[in-house]
Amino acid sequence: MSKFKEIANTKNHDEYKNNQDIFSHTADESSSQNMVDSYLVLLYKIIGFNLASNNKCIDVGCGAGYIAGAFNRVKINMDALEYSDDAIKILKENNSSLNIIQGDMLKFKEDNKYDLIFSREVYLITRVNSFTEQYQVISNMIDSLKPGGVFMLVGSDISFPHCMDYNLMINIYRKDDRLCLVSEKYYEVIFNKLHKYIFNKLSYKVLKLIFFPLIWYKKKYKKWASQYIIVFKKKK
Ligand SMILES: C[S@@+](CC[C@H](N)C(=O)[O-])C[C@H]1O[C@@H](n2cnc3c(N)ncnc32)[C@H](O)[C@@H]1O
Repeated sequence: MSKFKEIANTKNHDEYKNNQDIFSHTADESSSQNMVDSYLVLLYKIIGFNLASNNKCIDVGCGAGYIAGAFNRVKINMDALEYSDDAIKILKENNSSLNIIQGDMLKFKEDNKYDLIFSREVYLITRVNSFTEQYQVISNMIDSLKPGGVFMLVGSDISFPHCMDYNLMINIYRKDDRLCLVSEKYYEVIFNKLHKYIFNKLSYKVLKLIFFPLIWYKKKYKKWASQYIIVFKKKK
């Protein structure tokens, strides 16, 4: 069985069984609020995304649900989709007020339904290099967007070449007729730490130039994962 299928068929999220360690696998409350503030800078100031007040959005593979909750606090109507029973238990304990959907990201396809689909660090996408299946998952996300909708993917590269080849994915999706924009790989850490100083694409690039030596150093000598944000925008 391929690594992708092995992970995809795992019904449990074993890390969640050890309660002490859950927040190394899913974002906690305080970091989630900061993350969402930073994602909004990317969405509104760099991508120029507009979101109607009656929007419909979903966090796919939402973990403990704090990120979805933080989106809801800024009037983004984010449902929370999770797969494993262990994670659903954690999600209900921590964020029971969310609209929780138990479902499998691999089967997720709801045509033209969502303004914003968000997915962060679901290891099927981020940690297994299995192009065909990953391509299909992203393709289903694009089909599930309303015209003008956005899919925001956050993934990391700690064990490349075993992780998704993000550059390959970007190049292929830039030729996809359904899309009007596939962004570059934005460094999540720059948004998380410096979002108050990012005003537009150019100021992000300046901050990236300043920050890059540190990213390079940590990656090379401390085996640090770079977490990227990639935005896919569907044509109107
Ligand atoms: C590393 S956690 C990240 C959680 C959250 N997105 C965050 O960034 O805090 C990955 C989550 O994806 C969920 N997951 C894994 N495979 C999935 C699938 N096929 N469908 C939906 N969720 C899945 C796991 O149960 C886990 O909660």
